[in-house]
Amino acid sequence: MTEELNGTVALVTGASSGIGEATARELARRGAAVALGARRKERLDALAHEIEGSGGRALAIETDVTDADQARRLVAETAAHFGRLDTVVNNAGVMLLGPIEDAPVEEWDRMIALNLQGLLYIAHAALPHLLEAAEDEPRRVADLVNISSVAGRTARKGAGVYNLTKHGVGAFSEALRQEVTGRHVRVSLVEPGAVDTELPDHVREEVRKATMGRLMDIERLESEDIADAIAYIVSRPRHVAVNELLIRPTEQEG
Ligand SMILES: NC(=O)c1ccc[n+]([C@@H]2O[C@H](COP(=O)([O-])OP(=O)(O)OC[C@H]3O[C@@H](n4cnc5c(N)ncnc54)[C@H](OP(=O)(O)O)[C@@H]3O)[C@@H](O)[C@H]2O)c1
Repeated sequence: MTEELNGTVALVTGASSGIGEATARELARRGAAVALGARRKERLDALAHEIEGSGGRALAIETDVTDADQARRLVAETAAHFGRLDTVVNNAGVMLLGPIEDAPVEEWDRMIALNLQGLLYIAHAALPHLLEAAEDEPRRVADLVNISSVAGRTARKGAGVYNLTKHGVGAFSEALRQEVTGRHVRVSLVEPGAVDTELPDHVREEVRKATMGRLMDIERLESEDIADAIAYIVSRPRHVAVNELLIRPTEQEG
């Protein structure tokens, strides 16, 4: 354990796998108490157990963040249990690629519900707590980290609605940043390239082959690479705001 985030509380959505799981582990390693939100409770329990076994503090809360009430409850229970909320990593997301023509629109609904609405519900519920934490020791600054993607900067065929959601995350983050940065709540956007996680598992088989071919062949990032970047963002001194980080595997061209 290091001590950079001692006395602070972090909430990570989508903490049951991939980037969220690695981020929760890393923030805990740096001294934060961490609340873990996702639907697969047994995975959250295992991670909480592991963190506590290493001397950290963790709270697993089964949550579907697409449900506004559950999202609000996740934030409220975190703040009530640990007494404050300094850092929120809005990470839960799904990528259902495929051409727009003949797409199952249920996939669009799922992406919009999670990547946009879920992220908005969490940000909205967390903001009062972040503003309060930003006025307080030990850091007198608070962080909202929204996870976008390379897909939030560049649109490509076969990714239209995923692009729509991640571009939306970027636009929302910049607007909110301007609203709260004067009160020392930093809003940051992280845009990973290809990371080796469960994310592509949900893409229809025929679409995965057609759209993701080369990306699956290169040496992809590990979740820990993104967790490290998020930990860097939230451990900057009070006067330093890392607004945006684009992180690709070295071999990824686009
Ligand atoms: N992997 C990449 O190449 C890559 C690249 C750029 C951006 N990203 C972004 O990184 C973020 C994390 O993705 P990942 O790559 O780590 O994929 P992942 O391993 O599939 O993780 C996604 C997480 O979201 C959670 N989740 C899904 N639906 C949810 C819901 N309704 N309510 C609460 N949590 C929900 C999942 O947990 P449960 O199923 O247990 O709920 C899981 O913990 C996403 O926003 C993704 O768009 C990933």
